[in-house]
Amino acid sequence: MRHLLAARDLDASDIVSVLDMADYMVEIGSRAVPKVPALRGKTVASLFFEDSTRTRLSFETAAKRLSADTMTFSAASSSVNKGESLRDTIETLTAMGVDAFVVRHKSSGVPLAVTSWTSAAVINAGDGWHEHPTQALLDAFTITRSLNTRDLKGLRVAIVGDVLHSRVARSNVHVLSCLGASIVLVSPTSLRPASIDEWPAEHTSNLDEVISEVDVVYVLRMQRERMDSAYVPSLSEYTKRYAITAQRVAAMKSDALLMHPGPMNRGVEMCVDPSEVPGSRILAQVANGVAVRMAVLFSVLGGTKSQLAQGAE
Ligand code: CP
Repeated sequence: MRHLLAARDLDASDIVSVLDMADYMVEIGSRAVPKVPALRGKTVASLFFEDSTRTRLSFETAAKRLSADTMTFSAASSSVNKGESLRDTIETLTAMGVDAFVVRHKSSGVPLAVTSWTSAAVINAGDGWHEHPTQALLDAFTITRSLNTRDLKGLRVAIVGDVLHSRVARSNVHVLSCLGASIVLVSPTSLRPASIDEWPAEHTSNLDEVISEVDVVYVLRMQRERMDSAYVPSLSEYTKRYAITAQRVAAMKSDALLMHPGPMNRGVEMCVDPSEVPGSRILAQVANGVAVRMAVLFSVLGGTKSQLAQGAE
Protein backbone atom coordinates (compact mmCIF):
# COMPACT_ATOMS: atom_id res chain seq x y z
CA MET A 1 0.00 0.00 0.00
CA ARG A 2 1.30 3.45 -0.94
CA HIS A 3 -1.59 5.29 0.74
CA LEU A 4 -4.78 4.20 2.51
CA LEU A 5 -7.50 6.57 1.29
CA ALA A 6 -10.58 4.35 1.18
CA ALA A 7 -11.60 0.84 2.17
CA ARG A 8 -13.03 0.56 -1.34
CA ASP A 9 -9.48 0.55 -2.73
CA LEU A 10 -8.86 -2.76 -0.90
CA ASP A 11 -9.88 -6.22 -2.08
CA ALA A 12 -10.37 -9.26 0.16
CA SER A 13 -6.74 -10.32 -0.06
CA ASP A 14 -5.48 -6.79 0.84
CA ILE A 15 -7.83 -6.77 3.83
CA VAL A 16 -6.70 -10.21 5.02
CA SER A 17 -3.03 -9.14 4.66
CA VAL A 18 -3.60 -6.14 6.96
CA LEU A 19 -5.51 -8.29 9.48
CA ASP A 20 -2.78 -10.96 9.45
CA MET A 21 -0.15 -8.31 10.05
CA ALA A 22 -2.28 -6.89 12.88
CA ASP A 23 -2.03 -10.31 14.59
CA TYR A 24 1.75 -9.77 14.81
CA MET A 25 1.12 -6.31 16.19
CA VAL A 26 -1.17 -7.68 18.94
CA GLU A 27 1.67 -9.97 19.98
CA ILE A 28 4.07 -6.99 20.10
CA GLY A 29 1.52 -5.07 22.18
CA SER A 30 1.38 -7.93 24.71
CA ARG A 31 5.12 -7.79 25.43
CA ALA A 32 6.48 -6.27 28.67
CA VAL A 33 8.06 -3.58 26.48
CA PRO A 34 5.56 -3.21 23.62
CA LYS A 35 7.92 -1.59 21.16
CA VAL A 36 9.94 -2.68 18.10
CA PRO A 37 12.40 -0.64 16.02
CA ALA A 38 10.52 -1.33 12.75
CA LEU A 39 9.90 2.33 11.80
CA ARG A 40 12.94 3.90 13.48
CA GLY A 41 13.93 7.02 11.53
CA LYS A 42 10.43 7.56 10.08
CA THR A 43 8.19 10.48 11.06
CA VAL A 44 4.41 10.23 11.26
CA ALA A 45 2.38 13.45 11.44
CA SER A 46 -1.23 13.41 12.60
CA LEU A 47 -3.29 16.20 11.06
CA PHE A 48 -6.70 16.33 12.65
CA PHE A 49 -8.99 19.13 11.50
CA GLU A 50 -11.91 17.48 13.32
CA ASP A 51 -12.14 16.20 16.91
CA SER A 52 -10.97 12.70 17.75
CA THR A 53 -10.03 10.65 20.79
CA ARG A 54 -9.65 7.04 19.60
CA THR A 55 -8.28 7.47 16.09
CA ARG A 56 -5.69 10.16 16.85
CA LEU A 57 -4.38 8.59 20.06
CA SER A 58 -4.30 5.06 18.64
CA PHE A 59 -2.37 6.19 15.52
CA GLU A 60 0.09 8.03 17.76
CA THR A 61 0.44 4.98 20.05
CA ALA A 62 0.85 2.74 16.98
CA ALA A 63 3.61 4.97 15.56
CA LYS A 64 5.44 5.03 18.91
CA ARG A 65 5.21 1.22 19.30
CA LEU A 66 6.95 0.95 15.94
CA SER A 67 9.60 3.52 17.07
CA ALA A 68 8.56 6.21 14.57
CA ASP A 69 8.86 9.85 15.58
CA THR A 70 5.48 11.57 15.85
CA MET A 71 4.34 15.09 15.08
CA THR A 72 0.93 16.25 16.29
CA PHE A 73 -0.72 19.09 14.43
CA SER A 74 -3.60 20.83 16.10
CA ALA A 75 -5.61 22.98 13.70
CA ALA A 76 -6.91 25.13 16.59
CA SER A 77 -3.41 26.32 17.56
CA SER A 78 -1.78 26.35 14.11
CA SER A 79 -1.12 28.98 11.45
CA VAL A 80 -4.30 27.78 9.69
CA ASN A 81 -5.88 30.34 12.05
CA LYS A 82 -3.77 33.03 10.34
CA GLY A 83 -5.10 31.98 6.95
CA GLU A 84 -2.45 29.43 5.91
CA SER A 85 -3.91 27.07 3.33
CA LEU A 86 -4.08 23.29 3.69
CA ARG A 87 -1.70 22.93 0.76
CA ASP A 88 0.89 25.24 2.35
CA THR A 89 0.50 23.41 5.66
CA ILE A 90 1.17 20.04 3.99
CA GLU A 91 4.13 21.38 2.00
CA THR A 92 5.57 22.95 5.17
CA LEU A 93 5.35 19.71 7.16
CA THR A 94 6.69 17.69 4.21
CA ALA A 95 9.74 19.99 4.19
CA MET A 96 10.33 19.01 7.84
CA GLY A 97 10.73 15.39 6.76
CA VAL A 98 7.33 13.77 7.33
CA ASP A 99 7.08 10.21 5.93
CA ALA A 100 3.36 9.62 6.59
CA PHE A 101 0.40 11.91 7.17
CA VAL A 102 -2.65 10.69 9.08
CA VAL A 103 -5.46 13.04 8.03
CA ARG A 104 -8.93 13.66 9.43
CA HIS A 105 -11.08 16.39 7.91
CA LYS A 106 -14.76 17.30 7.83
CA SER A 107 -14.69 17.44 4.01
CA SER A 108 -14.79 14.29 1.89
CA GLY A 109 -11.78 13.92 -0.41
CA VAL A 110 -9.24 15.94 1.60
CA PRO A 111 -6.85 12.97 2.17
CA LEU A 112 -6.86 12.34 -1.61
CA ALA A 113 -6.08 16.03 -2.25
CA VAL A 114 -3.19 15.82 0.25
CA THR A 115 -1.52 13.10 -1.86
CA SER A 116 -1.01 15.65 -4.64
CA TRP A 117 0.92 18.04 -2.33
CA THR A 118 3.36 15.61 -0.72
CA SER A 119 5.63 12.70 -1.50
CA ALA A 120 4.74 11.19 1.92
CA ALA A 121 2.24 8.36 2.44
CA VAL A 122 -1.29 9.51 3.33
CA ILE A 123 -3.76 7.64 5.55
CA ASN A 124 -7.40 8.68 5.74
CA ALA A 125 -8.44 8.92 9.40
CA GLY A 126 -12.01 9.89 8.47
CA ASP A 127 -13.15 12.38 5.81
CA GLY A 128 -16.64 13.83 5.96
CA TRP A 129 -19.34 11.30 5.11
CA HIS A 130 -16.96 9.47 2.78
CA GLU A 131 -14.79 6.83 4.47
CA HIS A 132 -13.04 5.77 7.67
CA PRO A 133 -11.01 2.83 6.40
CA THR A 134 -8.98 2.02 9.53
CA GLN A 135 -12.20 1.91 11.59
CA ALA A 136 -13.61 -0.73 9.23
CA LEU A 137 -10.35 -2.70 9.30
CA LEU A 138 -10.26 -2.71 13.10
CA ASP A 139 -13.93 -3.73 13.19
CA ALA A 140 -13.26 -6.62 10.80
CA PHE A 141 -10.23 -7.57 12.88
CA THR A 142 -12.36 -7.58 16.05
CA ILE A 143 -15.06 -9.75 14.46
CA THR A 144 -12.63 -12.20 12.84
CA ARG A 145 -10.62 -12.61 16.06
CA SER A 146 -13.82 -13.20 18.02
CA LEU A 147 -14.90 -15.90 15.55
CA ASN A 148 -11.40 -17.26 14.90
CA THR A 149 -11.79 -17.07 11.13
CA ARG A 150 -11.26 -14.47 8.41
CA ASP A 151 -14.06 -16.05 6.37
CA LEU A 152 -17.32 -14.31 7.28
CA LYS A 153 -19.57 -16.25 4.88
CA GLY A 154 -22.88 -16.95 6.61
CA LEU A 155 -22.39 -14.11 9.12
CA ARG A 156 -25.21 -11.56 9.24
CA VAL A 157 -24.36 -8.06 10.48
CA ALA A 158 -26.91 -5.34 11.29
CA ILE A 159 -25.52 -1.79 11.03
CA VAL A 160 -27.99 0.34 12.97
CA GLY A 161 -28.64 4.07 12.98
CA ASP A 162 -27.51 7.15 11.10
CA VAL A 163 -26.27 5.47 7.91
CA LEU A 164 -26.71 8.66 5.86
CA HIS A 165 -23.93 10.60 7.62
CA SER A 166 -21.76 7.60 8.46
CA ARG A 167 -18.32 7.15 6.90
CA VAL A 168 -17.97 4.17 9.27
CA ALA A 169 -20.98 2.46 7.65
CA ARG A 170 -19.65 3.09 4.13
CA SER A 171 -16.23 1.60 4.93
CA ASN A 172 -17.66 -1.29 6.95
CA VAL A 173 -20.13 -2.38 4.30
CA HIS A 174 -17.25 -2.74 1.84
CA VAL A 175 -14.80 -4.50 4.17
CA LEU A 176 -17.29 -6.90 5.78
CA SER A 177 -18.95 -7.81 2.48
CA CYS A 178 -15.49 -8.46 0.93
CA LEU A 179 -14.93 -11.00 3.72
CA GLY A 180 -18.27 -12.68 2.92
CA ALA A 181 -20.65 -11.22 5.54
CA SER A 182 -24.17 -10.22 4.60
CA ILE A 183 -25.24 -6.84 5.87
CA VAL A 184 -28.57 -5.32 6.77
CA LEU A 185 -28.69 -1.55 7.25
CA VAL A 186 -31.27 -0.52 9.85
CA SER A 187 -32.24 3.14 9.89
CA PRO A 188 -35.15 5.54 9.58
CA THR A 189 -35.79 6.27 5.89
CA SER A 190 -34.68 9.88 6.52
CA LEU A 191 -31.21 8.66 7.59
CA ARG A 192 -30.74 6.41 4.55
CA PRO A 193 -28.55 7.53 1.60
CA ALA A 194 -30.36 8.02 -1.74
CA SER A 195 -27.95 5.51 -3.32
CA ILE A 196 -28.77 2.75 -0.80
CA ASP A 197 -30.01 0.33 -3.48
CA GLU A 198 -26.50 0.33 -4.99
CA TRP A 199 -24.92 -0.74 -1.67
CA PRO A 200 -24.16 -4.47 -1.28
CA ALA A 201 -26.61 -4.66 1.64
CA GLU A 202 -30.27 -5.10 2.49
CA HIS A 203 -32.07 -2.37 4.35
CA THR A 204 -35.00 -2.03 6.73
CA SER A 205 -36.49 0.51 9.13
CA ASN A 206 -37.48 -2.09 11.69
CA LEU A 207 -34.75 -3.06 14.17
CA ASP A 208 -37.03 -5.38 16.15
CA GLU A 209 -37.66 -7.47 13.03
CA VAL A 210 -33.97 -8.32 12.56
CA ILE A 211 -32.30 -8.06 15.96
CA SER A 212 -32.92 -11.69 16.90
CA GLU A 213 -31.59 -12.97 13.56
CA VAL A 214 -28.20 -11.26 13.27
CA ASP A 215 -24.78 -12.32 14.55
CA VAL A 216 -23.41 -8.79 15.01
CA VAL A 217 -25.31 -5.67 16.07
CA TYR A 218 -23.15 -2.71 15.02
CA VAL A 219 -24.57 0.51 16.45
CA LEU A 220 -23.71 3.84 14.81
CA ARG A 221 -23.42 7.12 16.63
CA MET A 222 -26.25 9.64 16.14
CA GLN A 223 -24.21 12.37 14.44
CA ARG A 224 -25.96 15.45 15.65
CA GLU A 225 -23.09 17.70 14.49
CA ARG A 226 -23.63 16.66 10.85
CA MET A 227 -27.39 17.24 10.83
CA ASP A 228 -28.37 20.49 9.15
CA SER A 229 -32.09 19.83 9.38
CA ALA A 230 -34.35 17.66 11.46
CA TYR A 231 -33.84 14.11 10.20
CA VAL A 232 -35.86 12.48 12.97
CA PRO A 233 -39.05 13.72 14.61
CA SER A 234 -37.27 13.77 17.99
CA LEU A 235 -34.32 12.09 19.66
CA SER A 236 -36.68 10.33 22.06
CA GLU A 237 -38.60 8.86 19.09
CA TYR A 238 -35.30 7.74 17.54
CA THR A 239 -34.22 6.18 20.85
CA LYS A 240 -37.51 4.32 21.16
CA ARG A 241 -37.15 2.73 17.72
CA TYR A 242 -33.39 2.26 17.30
CA ALA A 243 -31.56 2.34 20.65
CA ILE A 244 -30.02 -0.73 22.23
CA THR A 245 -32.13 -1.37 25.32
CA ALA A 246 -32.17 -4.22 27.85
CA GLN A 247 -35.19 -5.65 26.00
CA ARG A 248 -33.35 -5.63 22.67
CA VAL A 249 -30.23 -7.17 24.24
CA ALA A 250 -32.49 -9.96 25.56
CA ALA A 251 -33.80 -10.49 22.01
CA MET A 252 -30.28 -10.83 20.53
CA LYS A 253 -28.80 -14.27 19.83
CA SER A 254 -26.95 -15.49 22.93
CA ASP A 255 -23.60 -15.36 21.09
CA ALA A 256 -24.23 -12.16 19.10
CA LEU A 257 -21.59 -9.43 19.23
CA LEU A 258 -22.43 -5.82 20.15
CA MET A 259 -20.18 -3.17 18.59
CA HIS A 260 -19.97 0.63 18.37
CA PRO A 261 -17.20 2.75 16.80
CA GLY A 262 -17.41 5.41 19.53
CA PRO A 263 -17.91 7.97 20.80
CA MET A 264 -21.19 6.64 22.18
CA ASN A 265 -24.23 8.77 22.97
CA ARG A 266 -25.43 7.03 26.11
CA GLY A 267 -29.17 7.41 26.46
CA VAL A 268 -29.60 8.05 22.72
CA GLU A 269 -28.41 5.02 20.70
CA MET A 270 -27.05 3.07 23.70
CA CYS A 271 -29.46 2.61 26.62
CA VAL A 272 -27.61 -0.26 28.33
CA ASP A 273 -24.18 -0.37 29.92
CA PRO A 274 -22.24 -2.28 27.24
CA SER A 275 -19.83 -3.62 29.87
CA GLU A 276 -22.76 -5.68 31.15
CA VAL A 277 -23.52 -7.20 27.72
CA PRO A 278 -21.53 -10.44 27.38
CA GLY A 279 -21.15 -10.06 23.61
CA SER A 280 -19.92 -6.47 23.77
CA ARG A 281 -16.68 -5.94 21.85
CA ILE A 282 -16.61 -2.15 22.19
CA LEU A 283 -13.42 -1.93 24.27
CA ALA A 284 -11.85 -4.73 22.18
CA GLN A 285 -12.45 -2.50 19.13
CA VAL A 286 -10.46 0.28 20.83
CA ALA A 287 -7.62 -2.06 21.81
CA ASN A 288 -7.52 -3.61 18.33
CA GLY A 289 -7.38 -0.13 16.80
CA VAL A 290 -3.76 0.22 17.94
CA ALA A 291 -2.69 -3.10 16.38
CA VAL A 292 -4.52 -2.46 13.10
CA ARG A 293 -3.08 1.06 12.82
CA MET A 294 0.40 -0.35 13.51
CA ALA A 295 -0.20 -2.73 10.60
CA VAL A 296 -1.40 0.07 8.32
CA LEU A 297 1.51 2.40 9.18
CA PHE A 298 3.96 -0.44 8.71
CA SER A 299 2.45 -1.29 5.31
CA VAL A 300 2.34 2.24 3.88
CA LEU A 301 5.89 2.86 5.07
CA GLY A 302 7.16 -0.16 3.16
CA GLY A 303 7.37 -2.88 5.82
CA THR A 304 6.68 -6.54 5.08
CA LYS A 305 5.33 -9.28 7.31
CA SER A 306 8.50 -11.36 6.98
CA GLN A 307 10.62 -8.37 7.99
CA LEU A 308 8.45 -7.97 11.09
CA ALA A 309 8.68 -11.66 11.97
CA GLN A 310 12.47 -11.36 11.89
CA GLY A 311 12.36 -8.46 14.36
CA ALA A 312 12.25 -5.72 11.71
CA GLU A 313 15.64 -4.21 12.58
N1 CP B 1 -14.40 5.95 16.03
C1 CP B 1 -13.75 7.13 15.94
O1 CP B 1 -13.34 7.57 14.86
O2 CP B 1 -13.59 7.77 17.14
P1 CP B 1 -12.86 9.18 17.33
O3 CP B 1 -13.71 10.22 16.67
O4 CP B 1 -12.74 9.36 18.83
O5 CP B 1 -11.51 9.09 16.66
